[in-house]
Amino acid sequence: MEPENHTTVTEFILLGLATNPEVKLLLFAVFLAIYTTTMIGNLLIASLVASEPLLHTPMYFLLGNLSFLDFCYATITAPKMLVGFLSRTNTITYGGCVSQIFFFHFIGGIKIFLLTIMAYDRYVAIFYPLRYMAIMNGTTCGGLVWASWIGGFVHSIVQVAIVVQLPFCGPNVLDNFYCDVPQVVKLACTNTFVVELLMVSNNGLVTLMCFVVLLVSYSILLAKLRAGSAPGRSKALSTCASHITVVTLIFGPCIYIYTRPFRSFPMDKAVAVLYTLITPVLNPFIYTLRNKDFKSALEKLKGKMPKLTL
Ligand SMILES: *[C@@H]1O[C@H](CO)[C@@H](O)[C@H](O)[C@H]1NC(C)=O
Repeated sequence: MEPENHTTVTEFILLGLATNPEVKLLLFAVFLAIYTTTMIGNLLIASLVASEPLLHTPMYFLLGNLSFLDFCYATITAPKMLVGFLSRTNTITYGGCVSQIFFFHFIGGIKIFLLTIMAYDRYVAIFYPLRYMAIMNGTTCGGLVWASWIGGFVHSIVQVAIVVQLPFCGPNVLDNFYCDVPQVVKLACTNTFVVELLMVSNNGLVTLMCFVVLLVSYSILLAKLRAGSAPGRSKALSTCASHITVVTLIFGPCIYIYTRPFRSFPMDKAVAVLYTLITPVLNPFIYTLRNKDFKSALEKLKGKMPKLTL
């Protein structure tokens, strides 16, 4: 047993994406625009789903929840990153760093479980159309959403519990724009082989297993849809296509980052930008641009707007 916890590092330095001041200013403008769009798009979807009776079905409830989570996810990393573009050195306290890791994996975990639930929802809708409403009733849907929050919490707290035990005795420069397990673990003044193995199995296995489940279920669904000739077929196909796009966008980078031992590769930061900031901004467009129900809900909202502002 160690008598004292020998953490001496009180803050970490985030190197960020660029060092050149002009490049930083340019990136600030670009990412401010992306983050603003993420906030508006996702909050709009979440509030449309909550307020519009037309969208009160399990599928849209799940989409609304996903949008809300995307908004949270971007909010964990983007503000700190934006501040970093405007300051010479971007530091984050030890506590801030640990909370960032916690929320990053908490929300990320929920998102991954939620995507798996969304696949289950489509599976029931396509294979048991007549019993769909009975199977995916409010209680089941709400229960599944709760379960994904609990799953995300467990997934995240396990990693945070390991990270806070690590001793940090000096090196404190993180080559990233937010705190995440791979970079932080590398700075610990101890042999981290076992820790890395635990982290890779936690993150890697969760993502890989959900991904395989999702791939298999969407393949079965697509096969079923191609064989059928039901009237709702093309709508179901386009729904599945947008789900598959989002699943690939989220899982591809996750698998790239987490299923290997923590060594850095040149593409790491680009991939991190992709899944922390680009995917959350794309989701609203992928789902809403092609969806009739969302479009008519938006039209309705626009109709109400003038009354609200006058
Ligand atoms: C999230 O899902 C729950 C349970 O289905 C639902 O009641 C709630 O309205 C959803 N939230 C949003 C923002 O869509």
